[in-house]
Amino acid sequence: MEAKKRILTGIRPTGPLHLGHYAGALENWVGLQTRYDCCFLIADYQVSDYADDIARVREAVWEVALDWLAVGLDPDRSSFVIESLIPEHAELTLWLSWFLPLGMLERNPTLKAEMEEFGRRSVPVAFFTYPVMQVANILMPRAHLVPVGEDQLPHIELTREVARRFNRQFKEVFPEPEGLVGRVPRLVGIDGQAKMSKSLNNAIYLKDPPAVVNEKVRSMYTDPTRLRASDPGHVEGNPVFLYHDVFNPNREEVADLKERYRRGSVGDVEVKQKLATALNAFLDPIRERRARFAAKMGLVRDALAAGTDRARKAAQATMALVHEALDLRYLEKFRG
Ligand code: TRP
Repeated sequence: MEAKKRILTGIRPTGPLHLGHYAGALENWVGLQTRYDCCFLIADYQVSDYADDIARVREAVWEVALDWLAVGLDPDRSSFVIESLIPEHAELTLWLSWFLPLGMLERNPTLKAEMEEFGRRSVPVAFFTYPVMQVANILMPRAHLVPVGEDQLPHIELTREVARRFNRQFKEVFPEPEGLVGRVPRLVGIDGQAKMSKSLNNAIYLKDPPAVVNEKVRSMYTDPTRLRASDPGHVEGNPVFLYHDVFNPNREEVADLKERYRRGSVGDVEVKQKLATALNAFLDPIRERRARFAAKMGLVRDALAAGTDRARKAAQATMALVHEALDLRYLEKFRG
């Protein structure tokens, strides 16, 4: 039997995961685990909180692991990996940074946008170079496929470039990985901003209790031109309907709401209540599994330890190839 192709993908531990993570990535990951050999990485070298709050990073690692278990990622099948416990990542990052032109990093639109979020605070050097580490993450297990949200595609382009250059100069060590974007490339925030994100404070979290979901949905941005339920409303681009499309499996209900909204025969309150109900039905089993694991944190620890251990062995095998390519054993080999 042919060996399964490999997936590596990851998330930075900045806090609990939200609906945007789910629709853009997690949902895909759950489906792919049966067909691929998967590494799910918690990229804890790559968070900007280090300078001020390490405890927050540690706590977020547990949150991410719990969310992964809650949505159905399976640590018996796939490896849950803590990045910083595999220091080979740091070494590979440094070697690979010789194969990445500075201009490609400077032009990277995702990195640019994230650096702008720092505002007047200074950007740490490690933040500027984190995409190189992401390249190392992907190349370390010699992954073929990288399922991610749309914003991550520029980083996968960097990865392909580095793999090509390395392979050309030495020998075929790294597959050129492909990106794969989920069903919803980018989910809008509850405030109507283009992206759901923790830093924009416009997210619904997978672990939000029903009452919080209800309240967030009640406050959602909707058609601002509509003043009363009898005004014809806009469905296209309306976040409430975008969420209905993504999370409400009752297509007839959604079609009916849209039709009545356009005609001006349904109020925003009803549309939102139905959305809250759909979201809570979707989240109930996730919250339930999360609570079960949260009561047994030893299992979560074991999953992280076992996955990291497996991945470290694979990392060492890759580093042996890299050391060979770079002729790093020259002292051992020296015959005077
Ligand atoms: N940079 C990614 C994000 O912000 C997280 C990440 C780190 C990642 N390493 C990765 C994603 C490797 C895919 C592959 O979401």
